[in-house]
Amino acid sequence: MPSVLIYYISTFLLSLLPVIYSLIPPLHPVLPTSEIVKCVKGKRVRVSDNDRIEEETNCKLSIIIPAYNEQSRLTTGLTGLLSALSTSPLPLSSFEVILCNDGSTDSTESCCLNFSNSNNLNLYLLTLSENCGKGGALKSGFESAIGEYILMADADGATDWNELHKFFNILREDMKGRGAVIGSRAHMEGKVKRSVFRTVLMKGFHAVVRVFGRTEVKDTQCGFKMFDRESGKKVFRNVRLLRWSFDVEVLSLCTVMGVEVKEVGVKWEEVEGSKLGEEGLGWVAVRMLRDVVFMRWAYAVGIWRVEE
Ligand SMILES: *[C@@H]1O[C@H](CO)[C@@H](O)[C@H](O)[C@H]1NC(C)=O
Repeated sequence: MPSVLIYYISTFLLSLLPVIYSLIPPLHPVLPTSEIVKCVKGKRVRVSDNDRIEEETNCKLSIIIPAYNEQSRLTTGLTGLLSALSTSPLPLSSFEVILCNDGSTDSTESCCLNFSNSNNLNLYLLTLSENCGKGGALKSGFESAIGEYILMADADGATDWNELHKFFNILREDMKGRGAVIGSRAHMEGKVKRSVFRTVLMKGFHAVVRVFGRTEVKDTQCGFKMFDRESGKKVFRNVRLLRWSFDVEVLSLCTVMGVEVKEVGVKWEEVEGSKLGEEGLGWVAVRMLRDVVFMRWAYAVGIWRVEE
């Protein structure tokens, strides 16, 4: 082969490297360090591991809320949660709420602290040293949770908080306390108005999830999911996609690890303040697709392994 041809071919291949690199998500994502404190009357109170172990016997349900710059929606969200918890036959002390502050740059933290001024909710603030994504924030939250059951939910309260009673009953009674109850908006399809662009992206994503996702769940992305403690912890210990596609990995892990999954329709309402404009959405969609395909590949060739 003439050397000039080799030169052109190799230059071409080298120029592809950044493209190839951008196709691969981090192989071994590392969580930032985190610290957990209890919010009591607007103050941070240190909690030791022993304190947490002692509380374990009382705590029936941990509610994990990832938050990134949620100052405008958090107080309303927490107020809704508190009133839902107050209607439970269980005392308020049998719940704990862990707010995972995912490197917010606004006053999310002070909103959370201030919320503890006016009530006795067991409210914890878990601060990640830097932003790492919703999946990462939840991973830290699940690690710290001590409840017999664990619910992950979005700060904005888009899913009606009262649904947690329904989920709790389904998981404890119908499923004999084992498995995962997954919130779903699939029943609302057709009632929600979306731009053509969003609809196309969504359909494309669903198609990729059907092929690569190893899950039968129709709405993988709803932020409202409840697990028994053991299942939730073992699934989240294995999660490696820290950003948008972690939901798909969670459900895929449930399938692989034999965690029974039940998809249940929820009352859901769009809340103002979405951080993603249409211009950002295209890129996010590309990365989500990339992550789902990569995940399947990484598990298939054994780069990622599931640890029980
Ligand atoms: C929290 O309360 C303090 C003291 O009352 C106040 O200065 C601060 O602005 C409040 N923060 C938020 C985000 O409401």
